[in-house]
Amino acid sequence: MQSRQKLSLIIVALVLVIALILPARAQTPEPYKATLVIRVDQPRWTINRNLYGQFAEHLGRLVYEGLWVGESSPIPNTRGLRNDAVAALKELHIPVLRWPGGCFADEYHWRDGIGPRDKRPRRPNNSWGGVDTNAFGTHEFLDLCEMLGADAYVNGNVGSGTPQEMMGWIEYMTSDADSDLANLRRRNGRDKPWKIPYFAIGNETWGCGGNMRPEYYADVYRQYATFIKNHSGNHIQKLAVGGYDQNYNWTEVLMAQAAKYMDGLSLHYYTLPTGDWGKKGSATQFDEKEWHSTLARTLRMDEYIQRHSAIMDKYDPQKRVGLMVDEWGTWYDNEPGRDMGALYQQNTLRDAIVAGVNLNIFHKHADRVKMANIAQMVNVLQAMVLTDKEKMVVTPTYYVFRMYRVHQGATMMPVDLSTPEYKLGDAAVPSLSASASRDSAGRLHLSLVNLDPNHAAEIATSISSGSIRNVSGEVLTATAMNAMNTFDQPNTVKPAAFSSFKLQGSQLSLSVPAKSVVVLELETN
Ligand code: AHR
Repeated sequence: MQSRQKLSLIIVALVLVIALILPARAQTPEPYKATLVIRVDQPRWTINRNLYGQFAEHLGRLVYEGLWVGESSPIPNTRGLRNDAVAALKELHIPVLRWPGGCFADEYHWRDGIGPRDKRPRRPNNSWGGVDTNAFGTHEFLDLCEMLGADAYVNGNVGSGTPQEMMGWIEYMTSDADSDLANLRRRNGRDKPWKIPYFAIGNETWGCGGNMRPEYYADVYRQYATFIKNHSGNHIQKLAVGGYDQNYNWTEVLMAQAAKYMDGLSLHYYTLPTGDWGKKGSATQFDEKEWHSTLARTLRMDEYIQRHSAIMDKYDPQKRVGLMVDEWGTWYDNEPGRDMGALYQQNTLRDAIVAGVNLNIFHKHADRVKMANIAQMVNVLQAMVLTDKEKMVVTPTYYVFRMYRVHQGATMMPVDLSTPEYKLGDAAVPSLSASASRDSAGRLHLSLVNLDPNHAAEIATSISSGSIRNVSGEVLTATAMNAMNTFDQPNTVKPAAFSSFKLQGSQLSLSVPAKSVVVLELETN
């Protein structure tokens, strides 16, 4: 080939390459700019480990299949509990686990779930459908807690139970005496009593737990609380049913009439993309409008906590009574073809963003919020783990809990964050959410959530005194807003090492990808 011909070919090839690359580059949106200062000079409250609590109800395939497969199952298990799920969940350092409901708690009779399994009664699950074999009962739950290293949070039955039944259950679990119930526990295979640090008196007594008025429940609560006894060195924190969303009157009445008898008051708030219980929105098929509305709705958690806390402050300025957000998370339409009562939903990158935003909110209010339990742990609503018979996969939400575990028990450090809004039409939310803490070993942790699905954030980051020496951590993101992990493709959304930062002298610039969750450890001087 002539050299002129060669040159022409090279030029044509170059023009083609440039023509292909330039538009793609032009489409990459410019990052937005933000500034963030961690106020290391203003350490605040401890981030209670229990903000990372979980919830396991007898509902759908959570307990049966998701956790309990039975000792004779071909699925590898330890004393009936599936090994894969337990191993994955152990990684989260779960501090506390709530059980057996939920609505189910107010129809659960503990004596059904003790003794030889083949003799236990089969009862209809009136809350969620199907028949409960009672194979998973008190011993199995507390065995699971011990395997996970989690504290037990037992939810008592007020709706269809009695104070005597509740009192007996507590004696059965926690007494070391030579009493009939403690001896029954021993005959059932457990010599030493268990510790039960948290016990709730009913669930959603304004709804599925009895449709009560707050004035009535306040009295019922006081009555039941009287019969919750501490045995053999166990100390129970008594939790009362609180309100939901903007149900401020419930909090007002409970605090006015029963605050001195309680250690915690619950709050339930679920994130629905549309806010409409009749048509909540799909877990996986959504556009940017629904991405935005989901995040706008989840951010309401901040306002709800502030306003319920303000009421609690009137009656309990010392903040002795904890606000326990013991149900939170996303709730979508039932997946087509799935059992209506099972509340099984897939989990996408959007759920990871929701999780990060809420955990940052809980840190911000950890002077009052002492526990939070995402709903729910396996196969139900915003789950950590999904199973399909012998298969198991972990979700994007799981990874957020794993990344954020560094904040458990650390001291909250306020952050001054200046960031533009992420707007869509008339709606606007902050584009970034951030939280920082210092752990007992002196390490500084920073978690960042970029809510904007299109633009990366360039964040000029500093600390109020001293300087940052090094940065390490992880980032969780994916190409699509609805990226998810499936049984066939379990690694679509998983954390990667974070390296997109520049550190020049004391100037740290972090480049946080669009739609991502980042958790960093900052080494400081
Ligand atoms: O988490 C599912 C259900 O939602 C719980 O059983 C109930 O407490 C709430 O309404």
